[in-house]
Amino acid sequence: MTELPDTRSLWLDTAPAPDRTGTPLPREVDVAILGGGIAGLTTAYRLMKAGRSVLVLEAGRLAAGVSGHTTAKISTQHGLKYATLAKTKGTDAAATYAHSQASALEWIAATTAELGIECGFTRAESFVYTTKPETVESLEREAEAAAEAGLPATYVTGVDLDVSALGAVKFTAQAHFHPRKWLLGLAEEIERAGGTIVEGIRAEGVDELGGTLVRTSVGDVRASEVVVTTHYPMLDRGLFFARLDPVRDLVVAGPVEGNRLPDGMFLDADTHHSVRAYLNDGVRYGVVGGEHYRVGASVDVESRYELLAIWAARNAGLHRVTHRWSAHDLSTLDNVPYVGRYHPASRHLWVATGFGQWGMTGGTAAGLLLADLVTGKDNPSASLYDPNRFDLRSAISTVENNATVAKFLIGDHFSALRQPAPLEELTPGEAKVTRVGGELVAAYRDPEGELHAVGAHCTHLGCLVAFNNAEKTWDCPCHGSRFALDGSVLQGPAVRSLPKKRER
Ligand SMILES: Cc1cc2nc3c(=O)[nH]c(=O)nc-3n(C[C@H](O)[C@H](O)[C@H](O)COP(=O)(O)OP(=O)(O)OC[C@H]3O[C@@H](n4cnc5c(N)ncnc54)[C@H](O)[C@@H]3O)c2cc1C
Ligand code: FES
Repeated sequence: MTELPDTRSLWLDTAPAPDRTGTPLPREVDVAILGGGIAGLTTAYRLMKAGRSVLVLEAGRLAAGVSGHTTAKISTQHGLKYATLAKTKGTDAAATYAHSQASALEWIAATTAELGIECGFTRAESFVYTTKPETVESLEREAEAAAEAGLPATYVTGVDLDVSALGAVKFTAQAHFHPRKWLLGLAEEIERAGGTIVEGIRAEGVDELGGTLVRTSVGDVRASEVVVTTHYPMLDRGLFFARLDPVRDLVVAGPVEGNRLPDGMFLDADTHHSVRAYLNDGVRYGVVGGEHYRVGASVDVESRYELLAIWAARNAGLHRVTHRWSAHDLSTLDNVPYVGRYHPASRHLWVATGFGQWGMTGGTAAGLLLADLVTGKDNPSASLYDPNRFDLRSAISTVENNATVAKFLIGDHFSALRQPAPLEELTPGEAKVTRVGGELVAAYRDPEGELHAVGAHCTHLGCLVAFNNAEKTWDCPCHGSRFALDGSVLQGPAVRSLPKKRER
């Protein structure tokens, strides 16, 4: 068994941030931006530049959500995206997507230089490769479709990584960086220009009637416009919970042997293992992702970390894991993010979500687009990303997606009800969802013997949570909410804690 450290992101560990939890909440602003990840901070920065007064309201800490737990490749190569987009939405749509993502990449490059943000922005080539003969043809098609969409893509027969690749799609002039250093730099610029950033306060609701009002536990904020960039949209009225699929990925990082890891960025088209290098205080680190699963599914997360560490040692020369972390991202029904009006009738409420594992350019493109939409400027990608678009394929996927959720909502209840287990029988380190009296309880006994028991129904729409044994959290399989052992919300769409339960 591989010795692994406690879970902690390399990006959070190497970029300390000032504490903004005591900042007073303004009563009124032009634009309230809910969520301080890459989508929210980019939107806020652009709106500041357009002369608006902005508030960024962050429930936890800035850039500590998914944007602080990413692998941070800044690339327009989004897996095998362009052949599929061309087929399902047409070559014009594929070109519009490519152009908006490439503009986001170049905007980051220009803005890091202009503002002098030291975030390790480094140009690199990007590769999606395969080791399977049956995948080669789809890579050839992807290279053609991406080039037709205007991207610097070619098909090559090998990659400079220790894998037996049979072929790959190569994109030149891509990049990677330290995502948190970039976002903390943007946050400083927002404040320097007069914007307000408040950490540690969760938006609990938004009223749209009679002016837009953000509700929080410590008071309300009136805003002319509200932008929801909470990763999973925290308001149910856009029915996003029926249109987004949360998939969780694990990451391990650590120093690599000699110079074994090349500069490029790599993705296995079949297994989705992802590799990039990062220079951490002069030491070359490998950052390796993979072993994805649906959030809240009953999987042994610890074993998956071990499998990933073995893969990273074998294929990327990562001889010691110093950091490991996981996070989930959301995919939309047609694999194009939702960016624009929150619902068809909303006039002053906006949203960005569903970056499908590609939120470095995706979240940035969303920020650039939202700033245009809020300030009334035309943007050629607006209709492609419109959250209220509809097509038949999406409708079919909605039905499939909701059937999966229904399985978690109904099926899990029956199995938990069938197997009641007294809480006193839980051994140290053991966790269970079980019936206690008439209710379902999520209980964990820590290694010191203390019992942590909370209600097992997710406070979003009531699915049963499942235990994540690596991070010691309760994760909801339906839409990806995550809760700490004391029931507090770690990640939405839920905004209310799981109620604490006492041992009986
Ligand atoms: C393991 C992994 C690897 C990835 N690798 C890459 C990669 O290499 N390249 C790439 O392009 N993309 C990658 N992605 C995807 C990318 O990281 C995400 O798409 C992106 O970070 C999402 O940004 P966001 O701003 O939408 O969300 P977040 O960064 O999560 O920001 C949302 C913020 O909203 C806050 N919030 C939530 N609810 C509330 C509320 N009610 N009130 C106030 N605040 C709230 C949260 O605390 C959080 O800080 C990866 C994703 C994962 C999971
Ligand atoms: S996240 Fe929707 S029910 Fe739990």
